[in-house]
Amino acid sequence: MATERTFSIIKPDATARNLTGAVNALIEKAGLRIVAQKRIRMTREQAETFYAVHKARPFFGELVDFMTSGPVVVQVLEGEGAIAKYRDVMGATDPSKAAEGTIRKVHAKSIGENSVHGSDAPETAAIEIAQFFSGNEIVG
Ligand code: RTP
Ligand code: MG
Repeated sequence: MATERTFSIIKPDATARNLTGAVNALIEKAGLRIVAQKRIRMTREQAETFYAVHKARPFFGELVDFMTSGPVVVQVLEGEGAIAKYRDVMGATDPSKAAEGTIRKVHAKSIGENSVHGSDAPETAAIEIAQFFSGNEIVG
């Protein structure tokens, strides 16, 4: 399998509970390398652009409110099959359905406040990375 990059967000429910390091430990334990990382406060515009695919969904407003409610840590993760691997490490969207040991099983509060985001495909990974990082901020 090829080396890939995926985009990750440690969401406001996790930063609020001081879990950045705990999440990063699970990422690194899975063999993924954090090759870029910064803590930001997302603007409404950034969050609406980022989650534009969910614009028509009933939870869109709530999702944008949540993602702008506090600091987030945006990251680029690198490794063999990083996109699928990180989805495995994250666990299911709904933490009550997430597998044991996954970030969402261990840390997430609810389906909305679910601690992390990870890209779902190579195309979305490239778009999401480019929304938050310039090339010289990623050091592999
Ligand atoms: P993400 O995009 O954040 O990595 O999560 P995902 O792929 O597992 O889930 P997705 O279907 O893309 O949903 C994006 C985010 O929207 C929130 N959500 N809330 N209240 C609800 O029913 C609901 N459903 C989804 C979650 O924060 C989810 O991660
Ligand atoms: Mg998604």
